[in-house]
Amino acid sequence: MPRQILIAGNWKMNKTIAAAQALLADLRTRTAEMEGVEVVVCPPFTTLAAAVQTLRGTPIGVGAQNVHWEDAGAFTGEVSAPMLKELAVDYVIIGHSERRQYFGETDETVNQRLKAALAADLKPIVCIGETLTQRETGETRRVVRTQLEGALAGIPARDVERTVLAYEPIWAIGTGRTATPDQAQEVHGFLRSVLRSHWGDVADNTRILYGGSMKPGNASDLLRLPDIDGGLIGGASLEAEDFLGIVTAA
Ligand code: PGA
Repeated sequence: MPRQILIAGNWKMNKTIAAAQALLADLRTRTAEMEGVEVVVCPPFTTLAAAVQTLRGTPIGVGAQNVHWEDAGAFTGEVSAPMLKELAVDYVIIGHSERRQYFGETDETVNQRLKAALAADLKPIVCIGETLTQRETGETRRVVRTQLEGALAGIPARDVERTVLAYEPIWAIGTGRTATPDQAQEVHGFLRSVLRSHWGDVADNTRILYGGSMKPGNASDLLRLPDIDGGLIGGASLEAEDFLGIVTAA
């Protein structure tokens, strides 16, 4: 099964419904002819319903940026998988480094959220990546392996291949400092070998996205590499021109 390129926009905490309308309308018209690449936008919770509505009938999917592991209960400020399913959301980002850094997300909570997403038939995008210090001290492989194995602990092979991974070196996120194609491919290849050691051939069907200052100008050099199956785009997903530039490069 060839891995289809996936370009996902992570809007983070940007765009009210009103501010999103022009971008969504642009994406709607300008991707009508698009083929061979899967495109997803991940707006904040409050804009999800409007995004689903505006993009209905188009090939563009909609994702949330987090999901809780319980269906309901006393978890102030959280949103559950059934709530996202009710909105007809397709994808959910789990374990983004900003959630890990600012909101106490751990490999264990990532694993719990992932299980809930899979059980609800949401398509998860699980983020992993090392800090600058970890890279500079030669710990990148150890860190991403620990995150990968922690996130996927107890997940059966058929669910691993439904899970999208995103390698996002933290030092490249929002910094304008992209990993070089060699640096990115090296980690992506390593992650695929870790997948293979646990789940065998499923590794060939599991998509691994790159994230961290991907832009129209550097996207094709990254996306042509054998183990890079798409991009998770932050800053450049907020403007139609930039985001569609990356989609076109893909
Ligand atoms: P960036 O963000 O493209 O702005 O670096 C990527 C991400 O955080 O997913």
